[in-house]
Amino acid sequence: MIDFKEAAFLENPYPALAELRVPNRPVWNEELGMFLAATHADANAVLRAKTLGRIFQPKHPENEWQEFNWLHADSILDSEPPKHTRLRSLVSKAFNRGKIESLRPLVERLANELADGCAEKLNNDGRFDIIADFAEPLPVKVIAAMLGFPTEDEHLLRPWSQSIVKMYEVSPSEQDRNAAKLAAHEFAEYVHALMQQRKTNPTDDLITDLVQVEEAGERLNAQELIATCVLLLNAGHEASVNGFGNGVVAALERDDQARLLREHPRGVAETAVDEFLRFDAPLHLFERTATAETEIGGVVIAAGQKIAALLGSANRDAAVFDRADEMDLTRDPNPHVGFGAGIHFCIGAPLARMEMSVSLPVLFERVPKLILESDPIRRPTFVLRGYERVYACE
Ligand code: HEM
Repeated sequence: MIDFKEAAFLENPYPALAELRVPNRPVWNEELGMFLAATHADANAVLRAKTLGRIFQPKHPENEWQEFNWLHADSILDSEPPKHTRLRSLVSKAFNRGKIESLRPLVERLANELADGCAEKLNNDGRFDIIADFAEPLPVKVIAAMLGFPTEDEHLLRPWSQSIVKMYEVSPSEQDRNAAKLAAHEFAEYVHALMQQRKTNPTDDLITDLVQVEEAGERLNAQELIATCVLLLNAGHEASVNGFGNGVVAALERDDQARLLREHPRGVAETAVDEFLRFDAPLHLFERTATAETEIGGVVIAAGQKIAALLGSANRDAAVFDRADEMDLTRDPNPHVGFGAGIHFCIGAPLARMEMSVSLPVLFERVPKLILESDPIRRPTFVLRGYERVYACE
């Protein structure tokens, strides 16, 4: 039985996840009260099953949690058809490949500015933090620019998101719960006020588009609008920061892969991004609830029962990947499930891939002798896996 709180597991969950794949079928986990689908085939089947839905069930139904609850219940991620189809079609237009390509010059400029800042810190202090100085500000600034979130308040986004996502971990503490409740309240109020402004003073941004949008004669209601914006603002950076950090650290810890990044950063950037997400996934566990009896890998999931897809585990499945436990930045094809599968497949995948594949070579070209200055510091969490600080030097 996995101990999700054990320090050794949180440091390196992959040996325990490999054991979970051995039975080759979903395994019941008493602590989480759900089946865990750990193989690539089972995780994929969970994500694609029409009778396994993302159904938000409030852990705290009390009044003071109402904002946290509807921020989830009314978002795309926690809706199922037909509501999901309606919300997703409204948002997906903003994230199609053409729109994302038009953002490339902005991403290039931001990545260069941030890399300048890193080089300057290196000169002055002898080190910089890959997370705080590079990986984090880039996607935060890009998603804020897309939605039209005021630049002067961008610094609020990561702390709000960080507080909210602690609720997705196994047994959050009292302190975490209070912080999540407060962050949901502040975030919802802020976005609500911003939408009111855009209604009266429309600008050229996604919040204005959403406020104005009318599809099939049906406007999004206020809660759906706020929940959608909050989801985009959170999803728009959280996994990208961690995916970039996890991948760069793993590559720097392996001489051959570090050399590839130092010597051919542009040549490997595209495949490196997918290998980053496969090798040390930033998102590990996504739950579903059965709306009807469903069979996954020979196991029957009764209506009302829960099952989770373990993405990071699926991505290490030797049945699908050669040398699954080795990082190979040139791996191609790379059918990882880091962006999910099925109807909830990540809307932001083209954006995340573009941001990471543009910024990775920029960083390594600016600081070609990049090495880790000290042991990177991991956050002690499983569902969202990432580093708190990664000091680098030359
Ligand atoms: C490396 C970065 C990213 C990773 C690994 C990632 C991963 C995922 C995964 C696994 C899902 C599916 C969850 C499920 O099936 O339950 C998802 C959904 C989603 N992601 Fe991402 N994501 C990333 C970046 C982004 C970005 C940049 C955005 C931009 C706004 C974004 C927006 C969304 C949205 C809106 C959904 C919900 C889609 C739906 O329910 O139909 N993500 N993401």
